[in-house]
Amino acid sequence: MRIYKHPILEIAEAKIVTVYMDSQPIIAHENDSIAAALIASGISVFRHTHKTGEPRGVFCGIGQCADCLVIVNGQPNVRACVTLVKEGMQIQSQSGYGQVGTPL
Ligand code: FES
Repeated sequence: MRIYKHPILEIAEAKIVTVYMDSQPIIAHENDSIAAALIASGISVFRHTHKTGEPRGVFCGIGQCADCLVIVNGQPNVRACVTLVKEGMQIQSQSGYGQVGTPL
């Protein structure tokens, strides 16, 4: 689900990093947002809502709606669409409000 060739735009080569989503390795490009890396890997559901448990993923993509919240290295409520991946980052899908120090 990643664009490697484009008829007009030049796509620069990127350094590859490995992050982990719910303990599964995900290959990402350096400077990808977490959301971009997850979507490129076929993952579109990042969390489930507190009240009804409905799935959520990217909605606005610009850090305004909070639909894309995930737990990053134990820190809940991180907006995946505006947070860049880092080598070895541990990402977890979030249920409800998330909890500080959620075990990986
Ligand atoms: S998709 Fe809206 S804040 Fe991330």
